[in-house]
Amino acid sequence: MVYNLGAQQIETITKEYDMQPAKRLSNLPPYLFAQLGQRIAELRKQGVDVIRLDIGSPDMPPDDEIIESLARSARQSDRHGYAGYYGLPELRRAIADYYTRRFGVDLDSEGEVLPLIGSKEGLANLSLAFLDPGDVALVPDPAYPTYELGAYLAGGTTHRFPLLAERDFLPDLAAIPVEVARQAKLFWLNYPNNPTGAVASLEFFTEAVAFAREHDLLLCHDAPYCEVTYEGYRPPSLLQVEGAKEVAIEFNSFSKTYNMAGWRIGMAVGNRAALKALGQVKTNVDSGIFTAIQEAALVALTSDQTWLEGRNAIYQERRDIILEGLAAVGIKAHKPLATLYIWAEVPEGYSSAEFADKLLTEKGVSLTPGSAYGEYGERYLRASVGMATSRVREAMDRLKEFKF
Ligand SMILES: Cc1ncc(COP(=O)(O)O)c(C=O)c1O
Repeated sequence: MVYNLGAQQIETITKEYDMQPAKRLSNLPPYLFAQLGQRIAELRKQGVDVIRLDIGSPDMPPDDEIIESLARSARQSDRHGYAGYYGLPELRRAIADYYTRRFGVDLDSEGEVLPLIGSKEGLANLSLAFLDPGDVALVPDPAYPTYELGAYLAGGTTHRFPLLAERDFLPDLAAIPVEVARQAKLFWLNYPNNPTGAVASLEFFTEAVAFAREHDLLLCHDAPYCEVTYEGYRPPSLLQVEGAKEVAIEFNSFSKTYNMAGWRIGMAVGNRAALKALGQVKTNVDSGIFTAIQEAALVALTSDQTWLEGRNAIYQERRDIILEGLAAVGIKAHKPLATLYIWAEVPEGYSSAEFADKLLTEKGVSLTPGSAYGEYGERYLRASVGMATSRVREAMDRLKEFKF
């Protein structure tokens, strides 16, 4: 808990010890998840059985073969040194092969693939690689917070463009002011989308690549949910767009695809110059990924993938339980074809934080207020399927008894 501090608490403590953290820290917005975590800890102390549907993490383990590989590698005496900056060549080749097999995208494993310590690390470091103080990044609203926080850490700023229900949570690129687009350096997109659960077609990606080309932007597509899908849906990669590699990189991850969120391994692929710049930051701030984890990731990519279908079927059942529960109490929700998330509309008369807090306090069910993802998230709540099915069911039973 001690580490879950808000900006104000940090300020109080640092004043007490006369320490002056960099101004860039005071520019960071309060991290809503830390506050929520604190509130849940308090309630649990009081004996409340809290069901956390606010967590965006897989609740199930990876396949046994992956765990066995980690254990085997960890027992080898030569696997414990620094692993090198750019990942094992075999892993980079396996990532390239995955892109060919899954998307028909050819990647040179010697320059177009960069393993990461989880994709979040790469998202944040990319801003350090490309933004100087005052530079602008185009960021969706709502969005996973790291795109914006990375820009702030680099001293840059963001222009946020809305993702609206009436456009199926795809941005209206023509509505981004031309002078803003011209001034910006990075352009972030994320499909399948956290938090809205929306998906994007190859046609939309084609439009986005053209927009990036026209305005001289580095298009950064974040795709960690591309294998967490329902009803047989198969999301495209942005790199399938002809010529995309000239202006774009794609982030991907083992966290959600293989239930390896805590293992910290992901990748960036695509534009060679962008990956070189990202690699340059990384060589100065980290020292590579534990070899045993890289070897297990290699096993994850190259072993039989059918277990993912069973895992997705479990998520889909939970998705449907949540959709049914929300509908039963008159809360409108968007049915996702991918991701761990259901994006539900806040009932009239409440802000997203008020409703989430009332449900948490009165029924011990935690949903994430949409305001955590930006101004355009304010009318929404996010529910996650990363929780045991029996608990998801119980959460929906409690919701049905909730008076609001
Ligand atoms: C959209 C999005 N990008 C990136 C991440 C971070 O994933 P990783 O575990 O690979 O750092 C998450 C995690 O929730 C996410 O939702």
